[in-house]
This record gives sequence, C-alpha cells and structure tokens, in this order.
Amino acid sequence: MTNKLDGKVAIVTGSGRGIGQAVALKLAGEGARLVINDLDAEPAHEMVARLKAQGNEAVAVVGSVTAPDFAERLIKTSVDSFKGVDIIVNNAGFTWDNVIQKMTDEQWYAIIDCHLTAPFRILRAAYPVISAAAKKEAAEGREVFRKVVNISSGAGVNGNVGQSNYSAAKAGVIGLTKTLSKEWGRLKVNVNCVAFGWIETRLTEPTTEAKTIEVEGRQLSVGVGPHIVQSYSQRCPLGRPGNVTEAAGAVAMYCGPESDYISGQTILVSGGM
Ligand SMILES: NC(=O)c1ccc[n+]([C@@H]2O[C@H](COP(=O)([O-])OP(=O)(O)OC[C@H]3O[C@@H](n4cnc5c(N)ncnc54)[C@H](O)[C@@H]3O)[C@@H](O)[C@H]2O)c1
Repeated sequence: MTNKLDGKVAIVTGSGRGIGQAVALKLAGEGARLVINDLDAEPAHEMVARLKAQGNEAVAVVGSVTAPDFAERLIKTSVDSFKGVDIIVNNAGFTWDNVIQKMTDEQWYAIIDCHLTAPFRILRAAYPVISAAAKKEAAEGREVFRKVVNISSGAGVNGNVGQSNYSAAKAGVIGLTKTLSKEWGRLKVNVNCVAFGWIETRLTEPTTEAKTIEVEGRQLSVGVGPHIVQSYSQRCPLGRPGNVTEAAGAVAMYCGPESDYISGQTILVSGGM
C-alpha cells in the first residue's frame, strides 16, 4: 500500500470482475477513491462493499456502458460523490467472436459500441469537468496531471482470427488514445492505452466444458480449450498467460505520477508475445 494516489478519484468501468476489479483494488491500495461500474449489479455492489470494508471510499454506477445516458450518469456520480474526476480507465468489455462471413451486424455493433463508442462518450462527457479543473489549476500556477487509460488488446494491435469486430474496436481505441493525447495535452491529461495479450479471466479461462456468460440478455461463449493454453504458453516468451494482478500493475503505472510525461502510447502487456 502506498499513498501516491491519495484523494484521487478513479473511474474504472467493468470493475466488478477480472482485470477491472484488480485495477480498482490496486488504485484503491494506492489511496484512490473509486467509482465502480459493472453491467451486473451484484459484483459492482460487492466491490463497493469490499473497498469500504478496507477503508476506501467507493460508489457504484450499475449498468451498461453502452446505454445512451450512461456516460453522463457516470461522470455526474463521480462529481456528486467526490467532486471531480482524476483517472478514467475504460475497461468494460466482452468478446463475441465469429469469422467475418458469419458475423452479423448485431454482433459487429455490440462490440464496437462497448469497446469504442462507450469510451468515446465517457471521455466526451468528462471533458467539461476536466477542462474546468485544469483551467482553475493553470490559473493558480499548478500543474496537476489527470489520467486516461483505454484498454485495448493484442487483437487490436495485430489482428486475431474470428475477431474482426473486436480487433477493429480495439484498434479504434488506440486511435482515440492518440488523438485525445493531442487534444488534452493542454489540460495536462496523460492519455494512454494498455493492450493485453492473454490474461486469465472468465473470458479466457481454460475449460473443457462449453461455458457461456450472459451479456445484456445474450448467452455468449467464453473460455478456451486447455490445449490452446498449452500451445500459447509454449510460444509466449514468458511461458504462460498473465494474471489480473500483473495486468493491473501495467494500468496502475499509467494512472500514477510515473507516467506524467508519457502520453498517446500503447503498451503491449503480453509476456513478450
Ligand atoms: N482477458 C484477456 O485476455 C484480455 C485480453 C485483451 C484485452 N482484454 C480486455 O480487458 C477488459 C476486461 O476484460 P476481462 O478479461 O477482465 O473480462 P471479465 O469478463 O473478467 O470482466 C469484464 C467485466 O466487464 C463487465 N462488462 C462487460 N460488458 C459491459 C458493459 N457493456 N457495461 C459495463 N460492464 C460490462 C462484465 O460484467 C465484467 O464484470 C476488456 O475490455 C477486454 O476486452 C482482456
């Protein structure tokens, strides 16, 4: 536990589970106050209870990042609860794979909406709050850095069979990151991207059974056959998939003072793959 994020207000979407949950816990451990979001109410409320039990301030905004009014509701909750926004981690997401000839428009837009349009809307909604704070701090002669971390994927950097929707969205978020780093530099916002390789979560869990998760009323397949993990581990220089703590470490680096002079970058967190 350090206090390098003491008092900072961090929004982490999709933080009821997986990487987002690990990021929220890591930032809280460094002193941040958390705005927790998840599509599913139970894990979101459980996270808030867990953070409060360990002495952190936290509030939940339950719902899909794709809802038209979501971004405004998220930012308003942050401002009403904690009087501002210092860190935004656009993490919420899922996959819905198919080769292009079998991919429906619904499948395409569901993934683009969640991984690309939602981060765009959240950042647009955050602008007035960040801009007002940055102007006030500049007038006082203070340089205060705020942080945006967009979560991308190796699929967005290199492409991946069966993921034309996902890889397009995750490549799009890299473009969004680069542009916003240029637009928001004058506001002292570091805008960076973390692209994960294989991180073990429920999306990528090795399984021999056909597993599904429910995302907004749709039953979607998750998990991968153990032989795929084995083959990946043989090819990955670091010899295995990553875990959520390792994933959260990379995100936290872009949320703290270590990254005050880094912006517009995408780091691939993939064990060297
Ligand atoms: N796990 C990996 O190997 C991997 C690799 C590359 C990128 N990623 C990205 O990391 C992020 C987190 O994934 P994860 O592996 O932790 O998955 P996960 O399923 O463990 O956690 C994702 C969380 O996001 C929530 N969520 C999904 N859709 C949402 C929506 N529309 N609105 C709000 N919340 C929503 C889920 O309910 C879940 O709690 C995603 O953006 C994913 O694409 C993961």
